[in-house]
Amino acid sequence: MTKSIKPTLYLASLLHFLSDPDIDGENAYQYFENGAMLVEGGKVVEIGTAEAVLANYHGQYGCADHQIIDYQGHLIIPGMIDTHIHYPQVEVIASYGEKLLDWLENYTFPTEGNFADKEHAAKIANFFLDELLRCGTTTALVFGTVHPQSVDAFFEASVKRNTRMICGKVMMDRNAPEYLCDTPESSYEDSKVLIEKWHNTGRQLYAVTPRFAITSSKEQLVKAGELYNQYPDVYMQTHISEDRDEVALVKELFPENTDYLDVYDQYGLLGKRSVFSHGIYLTSREHKRLRETGSSVSFCPTSNMFIGSGLLDITTLEQEDVAYSVGTDVGGGTSFSMLKTLHEAYKVTRLKGNKLSPLKSVYLATLGGAKTLQLEDKIGSFKQGNEADFAVLDFNCTPLMSLKQGTCHTLEEKLFSMIILGDDRAVKATYVAGVCVHERDNA
Ligand code: GUN
Ligand code: ZN
Repeated sequence: MTKSIKPTLYLASLLHFLSDPDIDGENAYQYFENGAMLVEGGKVVEIGTAEAVLANYHGQYGCADHQIIDYQGHLIIPGMIDTHIHYPQVEVIASYGEKLLDWLENYTFPTEGNFADKEHAAKIANFFLDELLRCGTTTALVFGTVHPQSVDAFFEASVKRNTRMICGKVMMDRNAPEYLCDTPESSYEDSKVLIEKWHNTGRQLYAVTPRFAITSSKEQLVKAGELYNQYPDVYMQTHISEDRDEVALVKELFPENTDYLDVYDQYGLLGKRSVFSHGIYLTSREHKRLRETGSSVSFCPTSNMFIGSGLLDITTLEQEDVAYSVGTDVGGGTSFSMLKTLHEAYKVTRLKGNKLSPLKSVYLATLGGAKTLQLEDKIGSFKQGNEADFAVLDFNCTPLMSLKQGTCHTLEEKLFSMIILGDDRAVKATYVAGVCVHERDNA
């Protein structure tokens, strides 16, 4: 991929977060209606009002050897971050009528079986990354399949686009079809090879990935814990407390553990780089343990409603000071778009009797996601020196959004209509490390 060497100045409205707007209110973000962002060598150099940045810019660079890209009338935000998604499940989207355990058995496992074929894996990985970029998502925490070649195919596709992605080989050695089972030893060895090959190769990062407690033996969980502790800056991703039948089965399989989280805790799988998706039925003891260990939950509203798993109460997570971010969980989830996912997060929160503000929503999809991944010094905001991953949003992308914008007076109102009415059509362009990787036709 060619890197833009020339300093480039983007003119647009700009919004990014410095902290949580629920805590710091107006001090939590910077919004420049007539803004400019200077990018050089794939990194953010400066953002501010167009007037201030232009004055500096001309002082520094004169008028030669530079380019200006004019997105005035559009809003630039940091590239969105999806903290839970399965790339091999693209074709599982829209699978009808089953709850979690049957959905896995009837739809998901057979589809994942196809990823023994590396060519197939490469085809789907390329499709998947392009789809994320079309939706303005530039970083994701991604499940592969049990096949190590599925992870090679994924990272190869990500390296081509220079995207900052985190992925891991699923570890699963029981309660699944034989063709999808590894062993404690092979899962350990295969994961180790992948970590050494891919973790911190360019922008790629690795996550130790035991699928969930039901599909891993105790011996395999020991191996997952060993890997996670042996490589202290890799991630750990898994599922937890998504569905009532799943929680009951975990209790049967691990009678000696206090609760579901305690299973993962026993094997050393909690920590600041641990992301547990769903977490709908966690108890306050489990919340306390997540908080103590700095682990986070990924809220996946489209999936939870589509599969009929339940409604996560983020207000309880807030009260109990548990870190959380947002994931699409494709293919249990029904959209690649974080805007659509935030829309559904809003609805779930309403059904729980509370509100999810538009500012908090955008925070969760950008800096909030970066913080749960310990990546806030690289992505999630336009802090000087951060990687220039960003999405250009178009408030006039559909006739309805355009009409609605005419009634919006504040930034919050504009963002809220973008979240409720927006999807991939609202993403005019996506940039990865200062390079345009998606541009929507104006047709
Ligand atoms: N629990 C274990 N595996 C999965 C999966 O692939 N998707 C979802 N939504 N939940 C899971
Ligand atoms: Zn999932």
